[in-house]
Amino acid sequence: MMKARASAPGKVILFGEHFVVYDKPAIVSAIGLRAYVEAMKSDRGIILDGWSGENPAVKASAYVIDQLGYSGGLNLRIRSSIPQSVGLGSSASVSVASAAATCLLLRGELDLELIRRAAHLGESLVHYRPSGIDTTIATYGGGGIYTRSEGFRGMSLNLDEILIINTGKARRTGDLVRRVKEFRDAHGEEFEKILEDAEGIIWEAVDALKARDLELIGRLMLRNQELLRRVGVSSKEIEEAIELCMRSGALGAKLTGAGGGGCVIAVAEDEKIPQLMEALGRRFEVMRCELMAEGVREDSFPDPS
Ligand code: MEV
Repeated sequence: MMKARASAPGKVILFGEHFVVYDKPAIVSAIGLRAYVEAMKSDRGIILDGWSGENPAVKASAYVIDQLGYSGGLNLRIRSSIPQSVGLGSSASVSVASAAATCLLLRGELDLELIRRAAHLGESLVHYRPSGIDTTIATYGGGGIYTRSEGFRGMSLNLDEILIINTGKARRTGDLVRRVKEFRDAHGEEFEKILEDAEGIIWEAVDALKARDLELIGRLMLRNQELLRRVGVSSKEIEEAIELCMRSGALGAKLTGAGGGGCVIAVAEDEKIPQLMEALGRRFEVMRCELMAEGVREDSFPDPS
């Protein structure tokens, strides 16, 4: 084989970002936006879309090459429909798709654990202490509960009343994870209490999701947001988006991913969604979120559009 192609989904964290870095559970889902990578054999080195150097996707592919004992080089091409640096897991998806295309090229089949490990190494270049949630969900897809020490437990998320609102403000995950660490270093006792509350929210949210209790899901989102605000990762754009969601009929909203800008998610009764999308759409980019998307897979490479 001279060429192979793979794709991997982006993600939303419904509950538990940042606290997952400290080994608390988080609820996460793969979404219907994907990153695509094509890998082609070459003589030497790894060239990514004409550019070589440190990059999570290059690092992920280098690990796969090393593990599979290949001595040649690679050219990688990327296309992605996932907006970058706004909390939807774009760099993890690219790393997973890159490791997967490399694995397919050299081995003819996907090895999911090898791909997840490779992408996690890649992510460690750009994130500070990544919990592994983004690369795990981009690899395995679907939805469920992720814990740093226990890994991923799948759970069906029967919910299509979620909106993603992009505040348009890009930011770096590593900076926000550091900010939370600074908060923990300065306010150890308060942080421990926040972690306890965050975990309580997760178990209530699991029950609310199973029962499809949208009102409770909304209230838990607001409580989770309050904890994220206290550790310093909200922003004025996030607060503005949440306020607009609540004024326009949402049942709850919170930041998703690292915060500091990026995306907000909101939950609403189905009949309120059109009015919400209209109100939010005047100020932000807004989309209805497809949860439980498929994980990494062999795929065709989309034409540029
Ligand atoms: C980023 O998508 C989620 C964070 O919790 C960081 C991590 O888990 O590595 C902010």
